[in-house]
Formats: sequence, structure tokens, C-alpha cells
Amino acid sequence: MLKLFDYEKTDVSQLTDEQTAIKVSGLNLKFGKKQVLHNINLRIPKNQITAFIGQSGCGKSTLLSCFNRMNDLAGDCKVSGKILVHGRNVYSKRENVSKLRASVGMVFQKPNPFPMNIYDNVSYGLKLQGRVVRREMDDAVEQALKDAALWDEVKERLFEPASILSGGQQQRLVIARALALKPSILLLDEPTSALDPLTTLIIEELMGALKKRCTIVIVTHNMQQAARVSDYTAFLHQGEVVEYSDSDSLFTLPQKKQTEDYITGRYG
Ligand SMILES: Nc1ncnc2c1ncn2[C@@H]1O[C@H](COP(=O)(O)OP(=O)(O)O)[C@@H](O)[C@H]1O
Ligand SMILES: [Mg+2]
Repeated sequence: MLKLFDYEKTDVSQLTDEQTAIKVSGLNLKFGKKQVLHNINLRIPKNQITAFIGQSGCGKSTLLSCFNRMNDLAGDCKVSGKILVHGRNVYSKRENVSKLRASVGMVFQKPNPFPMNIYDNVSYGLKLQGRVVRREMDDAVEQALKDAALWDEVKERLFEPASILSGGQQQRLVIARALALKPSILLLDEPTSALDPLTTLIIEELMGALKKRCTIVIVTHNMQQAARVSDYTAFLHQGEVVEYSDSDSLFTLPQKKQTEDYITGRYG
């Protein structure tokens, strides 16, 4: 019999706790009086790539930022509901937020290397953690740059400023900076929308390689990209998750009219 896909996808609604990296239950979020996320319930599978798609302003970045509490930095943000990251309630009072952000790394649209050399960029977080043994640091920097598929391009110029790198290299440098802290989850918010198509492909390939070592959640407004790289896709509309399933099903057989209208480009 002809097999459509190489492997069977788990039904996301049936994920066990063991298979779940992030479990979101009854999440509501308000900025001031404005409610931006409405009763979000979903499980993000471990060691897979999950994409959030939807119109600009629907709440993709806000939802992503809840996973490492980056929204704490926005003034007047109220969150209710529960987010478990590997079973840990990250909105509990006892949560150590800087540790959380090391284990749940984040990369933004615009590459944001620090104004320092390549080596110092990658070792920045490790130094903050107090790791100073030079040999150890050298090894960690090399490994992170290799994991980010950047080592060969920069190994001869580690002590030159990060600003000499191209946009795509800078984005991989920022990924290396996150990877140096051995995150279990990597959040990517439109990581390629400032990059050209070739560089975008390099980053997409990198994501495929990285999912062996961490869970990846990516926000993208590019549906072709979501269909290409992600195992699972959630479609958001006005702060709600309209549909969430394995990407093959969502893009070929959407169950909701709103999803179909969006992916066929009827609005957006
Ligand atoms: N820090 C903030 N303060 C107030 N409103 C915000 C803030 N961040 C986002 N919003 C609002 O929340 C809504 C969702 O934004 P966002 O999550 O950035 O959408 P998306 O990433 O899907 O484009 C938008 O209406 C936006 O204006
Ligand atoms: Mg956004």
C-alpha cells in the first residue's frame, strides 16, 4: 500500500505528559484592559518543531513569550492559567526566571548580537553563570558555534566584532548564544523574516538538525515555511487557537473554515 508519509504523527490532543515539553491550560493574558490571549489550551511536543501561524496582531509573539516569561518585561501584563514547562509551573512565585530563560532560549526577528566580539557573544550567558575556566569556555563556544552551523565560517575570526558578520551569520550567532546554555526549548520569533531566501534555507536546515537536542517553537507569517519546517502547526486568530494539528493535516485538510480561508490566502 502506498504510504503518504514516512512516519505517523501523534495526535497533539493525545500527547502524554512524557511526550509534552510545554503544557498550556486555560491561559488568558491581558495588556492593561485589553485581552490578547483567550483561554489557550495546548501541548507542545518534545523534540519536534511546532509553528504558530496567523494574521499580524493575533497574539503569536505574546503566546511564545509566555513560555519563558518574556512578557514579564512588558508593563501591565496580567496572566492567568497555567504553563508547565517539562512539568514545572513557570508562573509560580518560586520560579527562577533567569534560569528559566536559559533553559527556554529565545531568538527574535532582527538578529541582535551584542556589541562585542564573536567569542564574547557566545560565552556571554556562561560568564553570567559564573563559568570562567578558559579551556571549558573555549570548548563550549566551539560546540555552540558548531551546533549553530557557524563554526567553519568564524573559527579564524572569533575575536572580531560580531557586527562584521552578515545578517544570516548574525542570526546563527544569536542561536549559538542561546545554545551555549544548553536550552531544552528554543523559541524562534520570525527568525528569518529579515533574511534573504538562501540564508533562510540555511536556518531552516539548522532547525531540522537542532530538534534532536531541543524542542523548537517558531512563529512565522510565512505559511510555506511553516509547511516546510514544522511537524505541528497551530493557527491563531484574535488571541484564540482555532486549529492545531500535525502540519500535514493542517495544510492539506484544515478542519475549520477560518483555517482554510487563511491558508488559501483569502485573508491575511
Ligand atoms: N507590550 C504590549 N503592550 C500592549 N499591547 C501589546 C504588547 N505587546 C503586544 N500587544 C498587543 O497584543 C496583540 C498581539 O500582539 P502580538 O502577540 O505581537 O501579535 P503577533 O505576534 O501575532 O503579530 C496586538 O494587538 C498588540 O498590539
Ligand atoms: Mg509577532
